[in-house]
Amino acid sequence: MSATTLEDLFHIARDAALRAYNPYSHFSVGCAIQSSSGGVYAGCNIENASFGVTLCAERVAGSKAIFERDFEWQTIVVVSPQAVSCCGICRQFIHEFAPKADVWVGFLDPQKPTRGPVKIYELLPSGMTLDH
Ligand code: THU
Repeated sequence: MSATTLEDLFHIARDAALRAYNPYSHFSVGCAIQSSSGGVYAGCNIENASFGVTLCAERVAGSKAIFERDFEWQTIVVVSPQAVSCCGICRQFIHEFAPKADVWVGFLDPQKPTRGPVKIYELLPSGMTLDH
């Protein structure tokens, strides 16, 4: 890891979770993605009255990185009230760019234990790819 430490990334993810738009679930998720060039991108979950339209924190953070054309993601930190891992859609979304990225998960409460690292390709064996 470069100048931004894992501890920094957890801090950034917890700050991001405070921005969640979650009037339906009230479940706040924050994500911080760090790329090999040192770029750091934060995201929160963004819900919608049509529930399926909801964006997870990982896809919000990842979309910011993609917009910056920063595709080489090394470390992904996700925090939530229950320290959940990335959902299936997010695993496939991340797999497109960074199957070898390390995922760490934690609680919103910084006193509680974190888990990781686990690679995206381990969370999503045989993730779908297309030649291009
Ligand atoms: N959520 C995320 O942001 N990331 C995940 O990996 C799992 C779920 C959000 C979506 C929804 O707003 C809330 O958590 C409850 O599912």
